[in-house]
Amino acid sequence: MKGIILAGGRATRLRPLTKITSKQLLPIYNRPMIYYPIETLAKAGIKNILIIVAPESSGQFLNLLGSGNEMGVNLSYEVQDQPNGLSEAFIIGQNFIADDNVALILGDNIFDHNFAESVSSFKSGARVFAKEVSDPERYGVVEFDENHKVISIVEKPKHPRSNYAVVGFYIYDNKVVEYAKSLKLSERNELEIVDLHNKYLSRGELDVNIIEGMWEDAGTFDSLLRVNNLVAEKVRSGKL
Ligand code: DAU
Repeated sequence: MKGIILAGGRATRLRPLTKITSKQLLPIYNRPMIYYPIETLAKAGIKNILIIVAPESSGQFLNLLGSGNEMGVNLSYEVQDQPNGLSEAFIIGQNFIADDNVALILGDNIFDHNFAESVSSFKSGARVFAKEVSDPERYGVVEFDENHKVISIVEKPKHPRSNYAVVGFYIYDNKVVEYAKSLKLSERNELEIVDLHNKYLSRGELDVNIIEGMWEDAGTFDSLLRVNNLVAEKVRSGKL
């Protein structure tokens, strides 16, 4: 299994913090944000990692992380010229993925969950993870029928049909490259990850696993502050 960290985008919601640097290089307690997704992949047993960055900040990532040797991982880099959507990661990463399965983690998603078992037991299709939240309208939301079977995943619904948000860690088989290439741009001009998931779902190949524990998308001032405090507490008590 290979790993991709998507760490591009413009992070306009976090201006002026992100005016001269990338969101994924901002501090989370004692380390730059990007360290956490790298560690999440490493803990899951994934050491061969591609980091996709925006052109303006590519040099900063290289200066900070280099080959990955210090963190015990093997890093490669690609540039995403424009934030064309999360699914573009599999088109940009096609050569890196080659014939393997791949896990994608969003560079601003901070977890204390260990995905090792979910990675090692993965065979084929797509496996996504959901967590119960109080503000599902901010995320991709899983819709279940009365037998708890997944009917669809909806991106940022105004009227969410459940409280289960899709978190930014995903596992796919090698078909993801072909599926990503077949997607059409959405109304907001992006290759949407939700369209990829609904493609797998319509073929009966999507598996949704519920996770517990800490998960934060550090994309707003409030969530950034919250995750700093949560991580500080966990690091001080030796839990992270
Ligand atoms: O955090 C989990 C959520 O992440 C999921 O529940 C949603 O289904 C998923 O669409 C995503 O929602 P966001 O609103 O957080 O997506 P955003 O556009 O903010 O992008 C997530 C991260 O990926 C962000 O750190 C920037 C980076 N990114 C984004 C795009 C669109 C890129 O590197 N390239 C891109 O083209």
